[in-house]
Amino acid sequence: MLHPRLTDQNWWRSAVVYQIYPRSFADSNNDGTGDVRGMTDHLDYLEKLGVDAVWVSPWYPSPLHDGGYDVADYKDINPDFGTLADADEFIAQAHARGLRVLIDLVPNHCSSDHPLWQAALAAGPGSPEREMFIFRDGAGENGELPPNNWGAHFGGPAWHRVTEADGTPGQWYCHLFAPEQPDWNWENPRVADMFDDILRFWFDRGVDGFRIDVADAMFKHQEFPDARVDPATGLGTVSKYEGSPIWDMPAMEGLQRRWRTVADEYADSDLGPRVFVSEAYLPGNRRIKYLAEGRLHTSFNFELLESEWSAASMRVVIDQSLAEHATVGAPTTWVLNNHDNIRTVSRFGKDPSGLDFTRGRDRFDPHLGERLARATTDVELGRRRSRAAAMLMLALPGGAYVYQGEELGLEEVEDLPEESLQDPIWLRSNHTIRGRDGCRVPMPWSGTQPPFGFGQDAEPWLPMPAHWSELSVEAQGEDPGSVLELYRTLLDERRRNVALGEGPMEWDESPEQVLSFTRGDLFRCVVNYGPEPVPVADEVIVASADLLVEEDQVLLPQDAAVWLQLD
Ligand code: NOJ
Repeated sequence: MLHPRLTDQNWWRSAVVYQIYPRSFADSNNDGTGDVRGMTDHLDYLEKLGVDAVWVSPWYPSPLHDGGYDVADYKDINPDFGTLADADEFIAQAHARGLRVLIDLVPNHCSSDHPLWQAALAAGPGSPEREMFIFRDGAGENGELPPNNWGAHFGGPAWHRVTEADGTPGQWYCHLFAPEQPDWNWENPRVADMFDDILRFWFDRGVDGFRIDVADAMFKHQEFPDARVDPATGLGTVSKYEGSPIWDMPAMEGLQRRWRTVADEYADSDLGPRVFVSEAYLPGNRRIKYLAEGRLHTSFNFELLESEWSAASMRVVIDQSLAEHATVGAPTTWVLNNHDNIRTVSRFGKDPSGLDFTRGRDRFDPHLGERLARATTDVELGRRRSRAAAMLMLALPGGAYVYQGEELGLEEVEDLPEESLQDPIWLRSNHTIRGRDGCRVPMPWSGTQPPFGFGQDAEPWLPMPAHWSELSVEAQGEDPGSVLELYRTLLDERRRNVALGEGPMEWDESPEQVLSFTRGDLFRCVVNYGPEPVPVADEVIVASADLLVEEDQVLLPQDAAVWLQLD
């Protein structure tokens, strides 16, 4: 019998989706690495938390040169994470609890361990096998120079020269990320056919949808012109300026429509049509065209994640996001955290407090990460602000994403020992830029010693801070003032309150450092960013911090938020 919540085919318009990073969620077989059974074991936790869906970051066979975003087989499970049978069980158990399941599609590139890549290397220039990837002869007299100036995301050029079977230096191939991630050639219809087949393989297993990795990258300008030079590297920039030969090419539209047709083939199935969320770090006005009729359903809206902690900045973000999405009739999503960005608790505890607020800038700019990493962090301040930010996010129209550990108020682990770092950014920057491992440290579940119930006693793949004993699920479950209890309360209210999720919102008049808005006639959210306390006149549903009481007046203090029930 289908869980009653799964009968709603519009679930994605207002869903709260919980991101699982499988390697770091729960280690059921005590080998130091999270796995699919660990995920299944903790579905009760997610059900109780009150989310509507999960998104599972890549769980495919992979040498993990980029944490699994280097896929060696799109139709199987990494043996270190489990088996296809485990995945089937996970999907079935999630559905039994009314939770939808999204998984990750990585269509721009695969792993250099992928059999088709190995076949391409073996087959030699001009072969149909090489046509699956982007091979070009080098420039220079003997082909000794890369075909153009494009730079790769994790550092260095986006081209790598292969050695041909006879041992001579050969052609170059394109990789927008690490050299171990060769880009597929989307001009070749065989690639599109292969991905249709991958989509159906997982849809047939009951997956509700896909998150599309670098959804603006697949097609490249076929004359392969140089990109604008990035003065910092001397290479073609990875930034997504209008007219870039790499990003957001017009051919994306046809591919999106094709994928939508495949998802819509499932319209008559029990679970209904399947859905997509695209990951494209583009400015809103360019990103929302992906959501036009017949294209994709939703797109990550990273504007809150990029915003500094201020009323002015967040108000601009909210107004622009809602206005842009209204033009295509698609719901917006909201994101504060994911596995690629410094966690809110640390981000909002720094000065400056956001990612660079320059819209359209490239997200993987490693130097930005370094600048942030160097700023000192006031974790308590950051946690206080993160609680308020969660209240803002979950009160806004549309859907939201919660990244594992966000609901525990975990901070970025900024002092991981260098020998433990695994992010390709660390390797490819010659160990000068630490990268993203600090937000990927395993989840603390219980107990007083690492690995805090992540596994039993095996050393986790990244070390866990000793003080996370206080932040474990077990520790927080007993504390009504904990971040976890706050998230549970917010998600419970969100599910019960019809004014929340998709729908209209109205701004109230408020002081400059305050955001105040209503949803329907009965619900108000107020966030106070400034030092001046704000009077609270209505009935409090939930507050992110202790309210002040002065001369019979209830006041909302700085860096705090409140949800109110109106008469
Ligand atoms: C975006 C993913 O979120 C990130 O983790 C990965 O490194 C790149 N895409 C490349 O696949």
